[in-house]
Amino acid sequence: MKLQYLQHPLPSPLQRLDDPRWEARDVALWIKRDDLLAPSPNDPLCGNKWRKLQYNLQRAREEGYEQLLTFGGAYSNHLAAVASAGSHFGFRTIGVVRGEEAVQNPTLERAQQNGMQLHFIDRSSYRQKQDPTFLQNLTERFGPSYILPEGGTNKDAFAGCAQLAQEILTEHPTQPTHLAVACGTGGTAAGLINGLTGTAELIGVSVLKGNFMRKEINRHLEQLPETATRWTTLDDYHHGGYARRSPALDNFIQHFHHEHGIILEPIYTGKLFFALYDLLEQGYFPEGSQVVAIHTGGLQAFASRLDRSR
Ligand SMILES: Cc1ncc(COP(=O)(O)O)c(C=O)c1O
Repeated sequence: MKLQYLQHPLPSPLQRLDDPRWEARDVALWIKRDDLLAPSPNDPLCGNKWRKLQYNLQRAREEGYEQLLTFGGAYSNHLAAVASAGSHFGFRTIGVVRGEEAVQNPTLERAQQNGMQLHFIDRSSYRQKQDPTFLQNLTERFGPSYILPEGGTNKDAFAGCAQLAQEILTEHPTQPTHLAVACGTGGTAAGLINGLTGTAELIGVSVLKGNFMRKEINRHLEQLPETATRWTTLDDYHHGGYARRSPALDNFIQHFHHEHGIILEPIYTGKLFFALYDLLEQGYFPEGSQVVAIHTGGLQAFASRLDRSR
């Protein structure tokens, strides 16, 4: 079976943002609306999750697997996306969740509603998630499974993200000068770097505290054919760390929604767009630049975080 996308066929729209702040500096900001790549509103199988899973699902089907097994924390978008993929494409799904005690939140509830069987394990066992013996024990326990790593970052995921880069190059009326994406594991950025041709620079905005994103992306790139793409990472837009937020970030997200009707969430895309507006003010983009920001979705995680902060 070919995995056709359910509601929004590729490519997702590339929209130019109508914003006087960008126009005043003669820089165009485009948004690649991968958030719209969802089978239904707020479905977790959207954005970069779909890009990362697409070829994996095809491979799992071709290799005759009927079950997907994957890993994640209790607030993992990836777990929720795999559960949704299983329900849409007819795979059973097992989610191995980090944490001794079974917890409940909208992300995990959604995963269960989509048929995912959750299995909670303590943190030290969880750290063995790439160990072949540990994986074999899991498949003996749960049955033959196509195993997806935490976050879904593997070679097939890079290929899906490389396709996204090619799609943008085809859709853009001239040539983008910059592509920008939020980075967690850096897998999406690595795939984009690999798929880019021409002179566009990839900007990866890290949503985590620390200066390791460049190293992480380089580690992914070692698994991929060499590329001449220029790329840079920005480590100063984490707003306190992963899933942390600042009043400035919250204001920005609200304002952006009010002005443009586009919803950003505070974990990934909010930090990305905040960074881009800041770079604009600093004069980072030369006049005439064509900047493409990728809206990687994740809006369902926003609901989950709101629940957590209650
Ligand atoms: C909405 C969203 N954007 C961006 C990312 C970052 O992707 P990556 O982990 O490939 O860097 C994630 C990762 O989970 C995500 O959920």
